[in-house]
Amino acid sequence: MVGRSEGFLLEPLWEAAAEPGPSRRGGRLPDALAARFAGELAFELRADRPMVVANFVSSIDGVVALGPDEKSTGGGEISGFSEADRFMMALLRCLADVVIVGAGTVRVGRNHEWTARNLRPDLAPVFAEWRRELGLAPQPTTVVVTASGDVDLRHGGLSAPDVPVFVVTTHAGARRLNSVKLPANLEVVVNSNGDDVKPGELLDAVGMNTRARVALCEGGPHLLGALMGARLVDELFLTVAPQVVGRPDGAGRLGLVEGSNLIAAGGSWARLAAIRRAGDDLFLRYRFGE
Ligand SMILES: NC(=O)c1ccc[n+]([C@@H]2O[C@H](COP(=O)([O-])OP(=O)(O)OC[C@H]3O[C@@H](n4cnc5c(N)ncnc54)[C@H](OP(=O)(O)O)[C@@H]3O)[C@@H](O)[C@H]2O)c1
Repeated sequence: MVGRSEGFLLEPLWEAAAEPGPSRRGGRLPDALAARFAGELAFELRADRPMVVANFVSSIDGVVALGPDEKSTGGGEISGFSEADRFMMALLRCLADVVIVGAGTVRVGRNHEWTARNLRPDLAPVFAEWRRELGLAPQPTTVVVTASGDVDLRHGGLSAPDVPVFVVTTHAGARRLNSVKLPANLEVVVNSNGDDVKPGELLDAVGMNTRARVALCEGGPHLLGALMGARLVDELFLTVAPQVVGRPDGAGRLGLVEGSNLIAAGGSWARLAAIRRAGDDLFLRYRFGE
C-alpha cells in the first residue's frame, strides 16, 4: 500500500539547543537514512533505569485509536498510513533495546512485528548495520504487558525466532499463558503482586530481564497513560496527522478524562525539543522532567 507522505523528507524546522551528556545513544544517521532525516537523532541515557521514549500518532482533534468494535483500528488509520510516520517509527525502533506494547495493541495487530525491518523491509540491512555500529542486539526485544494473559502466542509479530519476546504479567496472567507450550523466543515474567503490573514494576522487569537502556513505548493509550501518570516517560515523539476524525460522542479523544484532580496535582508538563514536518504531517519531540 502506498501511504500518505510517501518519500517526503522529515524536514527539521526547529530544535532546542542541547548539551550532549556523558552517556548518549545515536547521533548522525547513516547516509541512507540521513537522506530522509537530516541532523541527529540521539538519546541521553539514564543511570537509574531504562529511559522511556514514547511514540504516538494523533489526529488534529486528539483521536489516537478507534473503538474495539471497529473493523480496523490503530495508528495506521489515524495517520492515514503515512509512510513518513512509519519511517520515523522505524528510526526510533532502531535506537531501542526494547519496544513495549500493551496486550490491547497486540490483539488488534495480527501480524505486526515490533521491529524497524517490519516497517521498511527494503532498509533492513541499513537498520541492521546501524544497530551493529551502536553495539545493539540485532533486533529490539518486544515486551508485551498484560494483566489477563489473554495474548495469542501464535501472533505473527511474536513468533520470529530472532526477535526475543518478554510478556510481563500478573500471577493470574502467567497461569493462563503457561497453560500452553511457549515458543522458544518467548518468556513469561511475573512482576506484580496484584491485578495489574504497576508502571514501576514493568520498568524493573524490563531492566532486570533485558538490561535495556532505551525502552520505546508504542502504547496504546491505556499503557501510555499509566506510564505518563507515573511520570516515567522521558520523551514523547508525537506525530500530528492532518485528519479530523470528529466523533460526535467524543469517545476516544485524548484528554477527555475526569482530570481536574490531575491538573490540580500539577499535570505533567513537557519542554518542546524538536519540530519536523513531512508534507502536512507534523513530528513533535517533547522532553519531560527537566
Ligand atoms: N495512535 C497510536 O499511535 C497508537 C499506538 C498504539 C496503539 N494504538 C491503538 O490503540 C488501541 C488499543 O488501545 P489500548 O489502550 O487498549 O491499548 P494498550 O494499552 O496497548 O492495551 C491495553 C491492555 O494492555 C494491558 N495493560 C496495559 N497496561 C497494563 C498494566 N499496567 N498492567 C497490566 N496490563 C496492562 C491490558 O491487557 P489485558 O486486557 O490482557 O489485561 C490492557 O487491557 C488499538 O486500536 C491500537 O491500534 C494507537
